[in-house]
Amino acid sequence: MWALLGVVALATSASACWSSITTVSGTHAPETVCSGSIIFADDFQEFDLEKWQHENTLAGGGNWEFQYYSNNRTNSYTRDGILYIKPSLTSDQFGEHFLTSGLLNVEGGAPADRCTNPQWYGCERQGTPTNILNPIKSARLRTVNSFSFRYGRVEVRAKMPAGDWLWPAIWLMPAYNAYGSWPSSGEIDLVESRGNRNMFSNGVHIGTQEAGSTLHYGPYPELNGWERAHWLRRNSNGYDRAFHRYQLEWTPEYIRFSIDDVELGRVTPGNGGFWEYGGFNRNQNILNPWRYGSKMAPFDQKFYIIINLAVGGTNGFFPDGVVNPSPKPWWNGSPTAARDFWNARNNWLPTWNPNVNNGEDAALQVDYVRVWAL
Ligand SMILES: *[C@@H]1O[C@H](CO)[C@@H](O)[C@H](O)[C@H]1NC(C)=O
Repeated sequence: MWALLGVVALATSASACWSSITTVSGTHAPETVCSGSIIFADDFQEFDLEKWQHENTLAGGGNWEFQYYSNNRTNSYTRDGILYIKPSLTSDQFGEHFLTSGLLNVEGGAPADRCTNPQWYGCERQGTPTNILNPIKSARLRTVNSFSFRYGRVEVRAKMPAGDWLWPAIWLMPAYNAYGSWPSSGEIDLVESRGNRNMFSNGVHIGTQEAGSTLHYGPYPELNGWERAHWLRRNSNGYDRAFHRYQLEWTPEYIRFSIDDVELGRVTPGNGGFWEYGGFNRNQNILNPWRYGSKMAPFDQKFYIIINLAVGGTNGFFPDGVVNPSPKPWWNGSPTAARDFWNARNNWLPTWNPNVNNGEDAALQVDYVRVWAL
């Protein structure tokens, strides 16, 4: 009798589900969300393209980055439980001449081959000697259809790539743009870094020895409060030398970033929300896009996960005037940035170590992605 009761009690507590304020949607979202439970996970034992949709575009992320994102196992694959996103040369596939003369149209007929971003000439480009086609191939994966969530804890165990001008990112974007287009509906950058092994800005190593987390939010692109929600950590061993755990804790009260369980930074907005936190309330002439949201708006809506490896770009993530063993080959104001980058390949390509470790020193490597409900 007593033993039986014990079993019943155990069974009850094991299956107890306390409701959570976390909400989810998508084809791989759980039907019921229990407080503290895993709501999304991938350990990359296989490459699950039902979870991870590839971007297929030349768009350059709005920063005139130099890569062409496509669904190709040269650039994204899993092996022994690790996801690799590895850059390659566009000329390996199409020939060098193609960059300056080819017409590249990435729109395909199959559902999986559609161009995913037409903005910034993202679906078709004509290469010319000054305006060359995207010289690098890479990958960007997203859970846009499979999983998005509001509030929770995220942990991604990853190893950053090494190689000049590589720009890895693990981040989240709003699923429904409830407050309008970027950056009104927010952006959560869990980790970004730069692949240069020896790059300095004002005497500070801003390459592989630095990792950062950032929130982007504001009423329009020119008014973005990211500088008040941006944190960096330095590691003299380099984030490319070992796997680290990049963590996000996102609640109705605060957003907090950590690396290996050590807090990097947090935002706890007051009742004035991110409008006040960003200092936007000082300008009376701008309409607050979050006026009907909670104090966490725009971070009170569902976001999905993105993992990508970008290269270069002209938005200043790679500042002009950095000190690097070979100088930065393009100016951020240059209309021929991609060409200038490509022409310097004898300097940067060897730093990608293409001939050792299957070229994987230059790959963003992800061991797992885990998301828990609050
Ligand atoms: C995938 O990429 C490789 C290397 O760039 C290329 O040779 C191959 O043609 C690509 N495959 C497809 C289907 O585009």
